[in-house]
Amino acid sequence: MNAPTMPKHTADATTVEEGLAIQEEQAKLDSKFATDVAMQNTLLTPRFYTTDFDEMDAIDVSSVRKDWDELIDEMEADPNKGHFRKNEDWDHVDWDNMEPGLRKEFIDFLISSCTAEFSGCVLYKEMKRRGKNGDIVQLFQLMARDEARHAGFINDALREAGVAVNLGFLTQKKKYTYFRPKFIYYATYLSEKIGYARYITIFRHLQANPDHRFHPIFKWFEEWCNDEFRHGEAFALLMKTDPKLTSGVNVFWIKFFLTAVYATMYVRDHQRPAFHEALGVDPDWYAHEVYTKTSKLSEQIFPITLDIDHPRWQTNLERLQRANVQIDAAKKRGGVGGKLSQMAGSAKAALAFVSLYTIPAKKHAVPVSTRLQPAY
Ligand SMILES: [Fe+2]
Ligand SMILES: [Fe+2]
Repeated sequence: MNAPTMPKHTADATTVEEGLAIQEEQAKLDSKFATDVAMQNTLLTPRFYTTDFDEMDAIDVSSVRKDWDELIDEMEADPNKGHFRKNEDWDHVDWDNMEPGLRKEFIDFLISSCTAEFSGCVLYKEMKRRGKNGDIVQLFQLMARDEARHAGFINDALREAGVAVNLGFLTQKKKYTYFRPKFIYYATYLSEKIGYARYITIFRHLQANPDHRFHPIFKWFEEWCNDEFRHGEAFALLMKTDPKLTSGVNVFWIKFFLTAVYATMYVRDHQRPAFHEALGVDPDWYAHEVYTKTSKLSEQIFPITLDIDHPRWQTNLERLQRANVQIDAAKKRGGVGGKLSQMAGSAKAALAFVSLYTIPAKKHAVPVSTRLQPAY
């Protein structure tokens, strides 16, 4: 008789615990460099979050029961089990001969993506661990399972380049930022939906321009983004259970999170010119494309969208980006001059953000039924 054996790869893990145990095993190989990068906490790097888990656990999903059950069934069916592993589609990557600028930016992209995936995993796993509400526990277990696979797969790719993030170390040592539950809903909903929009935009672009696919991981983005799409759907349903979350003064918070998430994406992507050039993607075109898709999707639950075609929008994204370049240069310079230049840069960044935030939003009626299917 055979005892049940533990899967050997994170792609086959059916629970978050299995996924993490496998990664714990591999942690011996993980490098300090990548972990140090993942440990950074700035406005632009992925953070880890904690929240009031009891308040989240108290959500009653009965008002969205039908949509909820359908979504959970879809996730329980586990269409992506086994998907996140290297197979015959995984072409050889010549890391040694990759152009050094591209190599640096791409590794940075992978580390930051891995950290972001793992940030979701840690938060969802904690909710699942602390919760008593069957619906909530089940959802967060399923989402944590997915994010553990995503992070594990990116780490597989990083290991080929001789680096990997020590996820166990991050769990214990990275700083956790407290967000009250409603801010978790806005931020996480948006990060799931923008994650979907980012992955599917790159996937479709590379489908049309395969000569720009300089790494095999992009071939996995289609199924990958469907996981993120479902996670976003779950947060939309959670918000739907309480109309107060998307009305009144909270609309200002929604606008704040929309602006912050979009602006952060713009600044971060513009820090990786070689990466976007290798993909054959103009980062300004890409940003606009991702905002358009994310805005369209977020109409399912948010009563406003940002006016990304307003004349002040692009100008102030660029101002924000230039301010960020100035802050970076000033930090490297150091000394009194550096400090002053850093302060001036921060003031410029703040003004640009205020200018973005105060662009009048577009209002619309939110549909009665929230559920959407991935259509891009
Ligand atoms: Fe993910
Ligand atoms: Fe996700």
